[in-house]
Amino acid sequence: MEVKTSLLDNMIGVGDMVLLEPLNEDSFIENLRSRFDHNEIYTYIGSVVISMNPYRSLPIYTPQKVEEYRNRNFYELSPHIYALADEAYRSLRDQDKDQCILITGESGAGKTEASKLVMSYVAAVCGKGQEVNKVKEQLLQSNPVLEAFGNAKTMRNDNSSRFGKYMDIEFDFKGDPLGGVISNYLLEKSRVCKQPRGERNFHIFYQLLSGASDDTLLKLKLDRDFSKYNYLSLDSANVNGLDDAASFRTVRNAMQIVGFMEDEVQSVLELVAAVLKLGNIEFKPESRVNGFDESRVKDKNDLKEMCELLGIEQSVLERAFSYRTVEAKMEKMSTTLNVAQAYYARDALAKNLYSRLFSWLVTRINESIKAQAKTRHKVMGVLDIYGFEIFEDNSFEQFIINYCNEKLQQIFIELTLREEQEEYIREDIEWTNIVYFNNAVICDLIENNQNGILAMLDEECLRPGTVTDDTFLDKLNTICAEHQHFESRLSKNSKFLTDHSLPHSCFRIQHYAGKVLYRVEGFVDKNNDLLYRDLSQAMYKATHSLMRQLFPEGNPAKVNLKRPPTAGFQFKASVGVLMKNLQTKNPNYIRCIKPNDKKVAHIFTDSLVCHQVRYLGLMENVRVRRAGYAFRQPYESCLKRYKMLCKTTWPQWRGPARDGVAVLLTDCSVPTEEFAYGRSKIFIRNPRTLFTLEERRRACLEDLATLIQKIYRGWKSRTHFLLLKKSQVVVAAWYRRYAQQNKYQKIKSASLVMQSFIRGWKARNILRQLKYEKRCKEAVTTIAAYWHGTQARMELRRLKTEAQNKRAVSVIWAYWQGTKARRELRRLKEEARCKHAVAIIWAYWLGLQVRRDYRKFFRANAGKKIYNFTIQRIMQKYFLGLKTTTMSPMDNTWPAKPYGFLEGAHTELRRIFHLWRCKKYRGQFTEEKKAVYEEKLEASEIFKDKKALYPSSVSQPFKGDYLEIQKNPKYQKLNSAVEEKVLLADLVNKINRANGKGSPRLFLLTKSNFVLADQKTGQVKTSVPLPDLASVSVSTQSDGFFALKLKEGSASASKGDFLLSSDHLIEIITKLHRIGTTAADRDQINIDISDEFLVQFKQDKVCVKFIQGGPKNGNSAACKRKNNRLLEVSVPSP
Ligand SMILES: Nc1ncnc2c1ncn2[C@@H]1O[C@H](COP(=O)(O)OP(=O)(O)OP(=O)(O)O)[C@@H](O)[C@H]1O
Ligand SMILES: [Mg+2]
Repeated sequence: MEVKTSLLDNMIGVGDMVLLEPLNEDSFIENLRSRFDHNEIYTYIGSVVISMNPYRSLPIYTPQKVEEYRNRNFYELSPHIYALADEAYRSLRDQDKDQCILITGESGAGKTEASKLVMSYVAAVCGKGQEVNKVKEQLLQSNPVLEAFGNAKTMRNDNSSRFGKYMDIEFDFKGDPLGGVISNYLLEKSRVCKQPRGERNFHIFYQLLSGASDDTLLKLKLDRDFSKYNYLSLDSANVNGLDDAASFRTVRNAMQIVGFMEDEVQSVLELVAAVLKLGNIEFKPESRVNGFDESRVKDKNDLKEMCELLGIEQSVLERAFSYRTVEAKMEKMSTTLNVAQAYYARDALAKNLYSRLFSWLVTRINESIKAQAKTRHKVMGVLDIYGFEIFEDNSFEQFIINYCNEKLQQIFIELTLREEQEEYIREDIEWTNIVYFNNAVICDLIENNQNGILAMLDEECLRPGTVTDDTFLDKLNTICAEHQHFESRLSKNSKFLTDHSLPHSCFRIQHYAGKVLYRVEGFVDKNNDLLYRDLSQAMYKATHSLMRQLFPEGNPAKVNLKRPPTAGFQFKASVGVLMKNLQTKNPNYIRCIKPNDKKVAHIFTDSLVCHQVRYLGLMENVRVRRAGYAFRQPYESCLKRYKMLCKTTWPQWRGPARDGVAVLLTDCSVPTEEFAYGRSKIFIRNPRTLFTLEERRRACLEDLATLIQKIYRGWKSRTHFLLLKKSQVVVAAWYRRYAQQNKYQKIKSASLVMQSFIRGWKARNILRQLKYEKRCKEAVTTIAAYWHGTQARMELRRLKTEAQNKRAVSVIWAYWQGTKARRELRRLKEEARCKHAVAIIWAYWLGLQVRRDYRKFFRANAGKKIYNFTIQRIMQKYFLGLKTTTMSPMDNTWPAKPYGFLEGAHTELRRIFHLWRCKKYRGQFTEEKKAVYEEKLEASEIFKDKKALYPSSVSQPFKGDYLEIQKNPKYQKLNSAVEEKVLLADLVNKINRANGKGSPRLFLLTKSNFVLADQKTGQVKTSVPLPDLASVSVSTQSDGFFALKLKEGSASASKGDFLLSSDHLIEIITKLHRIGTTAADRDQINIDISDEFLVQFKQDKVCVKFIQGGPKNGNSAACKRKNNRLLEVSVPSP
């Protein structure tokens, strides 16, 4: 987006009329027209904004626009109402100056719209926050409410303000809005009862009927049809582009935001309805005996409904429309009203009711928007007053309105001139007097207290006797005849006698804005603004509280016979207050101009605009502004804008701005009479000079653009070059680093090769040295040996000679042994050193080899090689570690596994080793030993885990012959009795079946028999061939009892079974079993292991039962006969 820095940029026509050249009415209008055609509706005259009504919405009020104008200097951007609002707001906020914004122009010129734009701009730029936003919203929403009740469609404007409005917006020191006060001026109340053709009543009537819900209308006793109401003119009830129903919703919403309570809104609507009803009340004459006509209400329905609505007694109101009470000299008289008077009374009531309601609304809004804080406020006043009006038929209202505009024009002229003068004085510039039209004389004609028109009207109204509008006109004709701005056909001023444009019942005033013809009819009445007391009393009697509030004079207790002030008087007073108020503030002007009478866009009627330009005195305004100097600008801004025109000031001027401007203007050869130096501003006399400067600036800017372009391109190329250079340095650095790294690697590997060669060479040197040393030592030793030998021999000889004893020999022998031992020791040491040296060299060599390999094949094979080598080493170490294990099969020790991965192999190796060790062990056995072990093995098979005695027998060697019967002469007899080889000879106890006691016997076992013999004599008592033995029974416990059971029917069976006990039970039974296994001629002997078995003693079978005995039984098992059939053996607990 293009950024403007001055009003002078891209101007259409001229943005400030002060710069217009040549300055005349035509060029002025032409400038306005060309700007209007380009949608530039705002133009400045210095600080005054001229606003043309575009009659269409332009995209120049967006939030972006607000931001654009925010905090910018007035002349910085193209003319806009926002620039004026911003200037006013900032000087209010920053310089603490109260402001007023005076918006003038004729009806339809856009004053109300302008005032709303100013308010919305200020609302947008001032502070934010919940409370502040609420205040803003209330201030803004007061507009729709007042417009609904105070605006109407007229011929000139579809939304014409029919009242004057001045709103003071109050701000705190930060510039945040606090609240506001609204003053209203003279509502055009005649509109309530009658509207000119093509115009409408106030908007609210139409909005209510169109927008209210059926329910509301029913409550208000209203009908939606406009035609049912006399006060609503029919011909223009619907206005194009106006949606009354939607507006009604907006108004209701606005009332709610402003703070109206629901019952207040309802009361207001009831009064609006009451006005409509009032208009429908009609009267008929009724003849009285005295010949006069008396008015009567024609159809009482509307009257009744209105009374119901307001809570008024119908008869009271009805009477007030037929009679009038006149009070004179403390007497009350009742006179009848004729029909015309009744209509007059009705309309007066309607007008009063409506205008009082309007004033009440303003007061109520003020109550809501009033600033809460008591601190001093800064104030911004916005004046939107009805514009100057020239109708065909102008009455009292127009007279009043135009008087107000006249006053505003006066204050405008005064303040503009004063401001201009003040600026000249402030800037120390010589002031030249300006001739302009001062309308004070017209104001005087109207408001002069002695002979002003308003004063005379009041005088006429208060005068006793017959007072009519004609008597008033006569009075004017007499008194104002000589006044140069007053014109009347019947005045003494002869020049109007023949002026046919001046009717007899009219007078004409030459206002500053043009001549206006006023018809005097109604002046007196309107000024009196009388309402019959009966009516106000009737209204006061209403139960409707708002109604009572509006007619306080109806209170019978406060009857005031004094006439109320006239309308003219009141208006003059309020205008006086307003003017005083405005004079205390810093004025800002918006002068609205209407481009055409048709209320349409794009049409610019020269004559109409010209007329407005004239009566608004805009040309005079320009002249005043240009008196002496057309253009002024602070030195800083001037220097900033034109500094490129002079080499000294471009690009920077270091000194004071004023000197810079002086240098600049001299350099540009501007004639000295064309400008003047103020204190802070430069004043330029002729706009042409300014335009010449502008022209030169434009040309210069093009050169500057080229320069900037050139410098930018240079900068861009240089930046690019520097970037390339920087990149090149980085690349070079990286490359050098890479090359140096390569070189370093080469040097390193070379030095490693050299290092290894040197180390090899050094090692060889050491080896050579060592060998040399060894040879030296050997030589020394040999020499020493010879020497010692010589010595020894000499000694020996000496000893031989001297002692020749054994001791000498032994000494020599000892020496010789010592020498030999030392020699041997030396040799061993040498050998060890050599081995060590060789190992070192070997290690170096291996290291070198490995490093070489590593270097070459690091990536491919080194890892694998190192791994294999390491594994080899580990395995070697591991296997060598196993060497310490003993060969004893009993040895259970086995080194711990050194590495987890060897676990499987470790265990397997242990198993294999053990097997091998056992095999080795077995290999050493002799045949006898083998037989013993076989027996042990058999014993294990028979008894292991079956008999508790077994474990204790394992470690006992099976000796067999415990008695040594062959050697012992005691058993010689027995030995000879047993022919076969004795396999086992032992002492056993034979259990006596009668008492269970044991008697000792010798027990012998051969391959074919077992023998029991007497212990003392060695006499054989019993010899049983083994084939007769059926089975052997033993218990499971740790006792030594066993029963030898004989086969039934065998030769030995008659002797019965044997119950014996032995310390070598396991061996005896094993041997018996073994004989059974090896002998081919007999069956296997059954071995029955159980704790209960039967034994055949001769005829009887006795059960032998083994029980776990307590500790009392001692350490050995004891057998006891329990009964004939039971022998109980108690075995000690293990
Ligand atoms: N700046 C604007 N942009 C668009 N339309 C505008 C602008 N100003 C005025 N108008 C149009 O012109 C109409 C009349 O404007 P406005 O009511 O402000 O006139 P006024 O000067 O207040 O008249 P009156 O004295 O009768 O109240 C508006 O309803 C609107 O349609
Ligand atoms: Mg208006």
